This record gives sequence, structure tokens and C-alpha cells, in this order.
Amino acid sequence: MKIFLVGYMGCGKSSLGRKVAKVGNMRFVDMDSIIEEREGAAISDIFRYEGEEYFRQQERALIEEFAMEDADLVISTGGGVPTWKDNMTRINEIGHSIYLRRTAQQIASRLSPHGRQKRPKLRGLNDEELVAFMTQNMAEREPYYAQASHCIDCASCRDEELIAKILSIVKNNE
Ligand code: S3P
Repeated sequence: MKIFLVGYMGCGKSSLGRKVAKVGNMRFVDMDSIIEEREGAAISDIFRYEGEEYFRQQERALIEEFAMEDADLVISTGGGVPTWKDNMTRINEIGHSIYLRRTAQQIASRLSPHGRQKRPKLRGLNDEELVAFMTQNMAEREPYYAQASHCIDCASCRDEELIAKILSIVKNNE
């Protein structure tokens, strides 16, 4: 079984995904980390020197690799994955997708300075600009995220509850 966690940058896909995989005895993979490792470069440098389109192609190629794998995987996708071409359709053919929904304010308050710096789209924005950019960008992306087979509203939930919710989706789809 393959579980794809989708949602905006900083919503917790990687940290929650890692814990879910551990408890659920599945393998955790993080798309950003795999691409960085293969390219030998940070995401911000891949964007700068190769361009976003190149990065999006690497993401899609990785999704196709997951499709070929036999293992049970919890996959933390990059926040832009659902918005590219027919990625969501393909993801839903390969496995289950869970949209972790949070508000821009919530994400802004969770993001560390390093967390902003390493994401080319958020880099250099002050607090006010960050919330304004994310609010607009999230609204544009919502129709793509909404194609996920499951949606969890994370707003009022503690991490433990979120992990339990994700695990129950995993269990019900075994
Ligand atoms: C991006 C999200 C990032 C990373 C890149 C682009 C986006 O992943 O892939 O900076 O367009 O939303 P995270 O969602 O893991 O931050």
C-alpha cells in the first residue's frame, strides 16, 4: 500500500509521515530529500540552476518509481506536487492520498527561519508578506489538494491525534 501525504509547505507532511510509518511498520520516504540526494544539491539550488520545470519532472519521475515498488510506503510529497500536470490523478491510481489542511496563519507560526529560507517560494518574505503570499497561493492550490482521496483538517488537532487519524485511514485501506 502507498500513502501519499499532500498539502502546503510546512503543514507537517514529513514529521507526521515519519511517525506514521514507524507505528504502521511501513517505509517512510520524503520526495524532497530523495531529489536533493540524487541531485547532490539543495532544492533552492535546483530551482535556481535547473529551474522549477526540471524539479517538477524529477518529482513526477519519482512518483512513477513509487508505482513500481512492492513495499508499503508512506510518502511525503513536496507541496507543489499536486499542482503539476495530472500528478493527482496518477497518485490516486497508485495509492491513497491524504490532504493535511492547515490555514496560512497556522503554517506561518510553525515555520522556523530555516524552514522559510530553504523553500525557494518563501525565501526573503517578511511575516506579513509570508501570510499574504501563502493565503493567495493556497487558495490557488486548493482545487488540486482537494483531489486527495482523504482530507484531514489539522487546525485544532494535536500531532498525536493527527497520527491516529492517518493510521486509521491506513488501516481502513489495507
Ligand atoms: C514546494 C514545496 C517544497 C519543495 C519546493 C517547492 C512547493 O516541499 O518541494 O520548495 O512548490 O510548494 P515541502 O512541501 O516539503 O516544503
